[in-house]
Amino acid sequence: MPHKVFVSRYLPPKALDRLRATAEVDYHDGEEGLTKSELIGRLTGADGLVCHITDTVDEEVLSASPKLRVISNVAVGYNNIDLAAARRHNVVVTNTPDVLTETTADFAWTLMMATARRVVEADRFLRAGRWTTWDYNLLLGTDVYGATLGIVGFGRIGRAMARRALGFQMRVLYHDVHRADATDERELNATHAELETVLRESDFVTLHTLLNPGSRHLIGADALKLMKPTAYLINAARGPIVDESALADALAHGRLAGAGLDVFEDEPKVHPGLLALENVVLVPHIASASHATRMNMAMLAVNNCLAVLDGQPALTPV
Ligand code: DGY
Repeated sequence: MPHKVFVSRYLPPKALDRLRATAEVDYHDGEEGLTKSELIGRLTGADGLVCHITDTVDEEVLSASPKLRVISNVAVGYNNIDLAAARRHNVVVTNTPDVLTETTADFAWTLMMATARRVVEADRFLRAGRWTTWDYNLLLGTDVYGATLGIVGFGRIGRAMARRALGFQMRVLYHDVHRADATDERELNATHAELETVLRESDFVTLHTLLNPGSRHLIGADALKLMKPTAYLINAARGPIVDESALADALAHGRLAGAGLDVFEDEPKVHPGLLALENVVLVPHIASASHATRMNMAMLAVNNCLAVLDGQPALTPV
């Protein structure tokens, strides 16, 4: 009997073909994600689930899906899945690390540059027909080169940011509960510091931590008060790490220079206070969205799912 796998949302044909070569696949290819009850319905009899961050897989879903053996998330983040419940139900959870590291860091870097140099605002200005002459004071920004970069979360993507900072001759401070070893710190020219120091001393603070109860609203009103009024906040990790309303308030009142946000507290909703501001770059959760990386994520997710169903260890278990 072939294994039954439910794919909850779009996967490229190459990844679906790989799955269909050995498994019986039920595929939801609708543009919208499924509701929880639809997900439970489609999981009836499934051994494997290939899903996205828009699918919430919790105790209710798991207890309604007794045959399920693997949840393969097409993402590096896995806050949509209740890991403790999966453990209780003996379900393996996998994610897609490594394959998206550089693409995500490229994008976080892009957000930093775009925010500091007001690229999106300048584009809006030009298209609105407001450019009348070269102007010495027009759209002045902040230099990234030589500035201090604060990295919160020094995992794969955080370190990829530090590597990029080498080329920009930046001073790099990082905060992580796990300190990097001395060789990595030396090679990346990165100094470990308390979160408070990172926030106080950085010109750019970029977030690369997982979302968990400890990191929810890590950057709230108090943390924002520690940052320089000339500093910028970049978030390409998870929206709820930042208290959006406190951020909108700080930006609107000149207590922070700008922000570049790829992720939001209640996607796809964006805090209206942020939408009203010029000094924020807002993009719809696309940091890993390059053609090559999205394909690699899909293939890794499928390979993880098939490995577990074949009785092999997952390639990248959570
Ligand atoms: C991830 O991989 O966690 C991204 O946020 C979704 O692509």
